[in-house]
Amino acid sequence: MNKVLILYHSGSGSTKLISEVLSEKMSETFETDLLIVSSSFDYQQIENYDLLIFGFPTYSCQPSLSMKEFVDIELLKHKHYAVVHHVRNL
Ligand SMILES: Cc1cc2nc3c(=O)[nH]c(=O)nc-3n(C[C@H](O)[C@H](O)[C@H](O)COP(=O)(O)O)c2cc1C
Repeated sequence: MNKVLILYHSGSGSTKLISEVLSEKMSETFETDLLIVSSSFDYQQIENYDLLIFGFPTYSCQPSLSMKEFVDIELLKHKHYAVVHHVRNL
């Protein structure tokens, strides 16, 4: 595995911070890019990566809407991916 893409959504900044730390750490071993999810994302880009990591907060017991709208399940069937699902401390 050589190239990693971290895609995240963050409402108030916690997931952004975690994603940045993860990106920094993973960059020590892998070529790593960090992107915020957006409607202008070119899904062809993911062909350039070996692993996708998704970071998002929990809102109302679900992944944030921005992430749910972003994820294309059909596309992910062909990739390795990991999820960082951020919840508050209970
Ligand atoms: C409207 C709203 C709903 C939330 N619902 C949940 C929830 O159901 N379960 C949970 O564990 N945390 C919930 N949280 C807490 C967030 O997941 C948590 O604060 C997270 O760190 C926010 O990440 P962010 O700063 O990247 O937006 C909720 C927060 C908000 C603002």
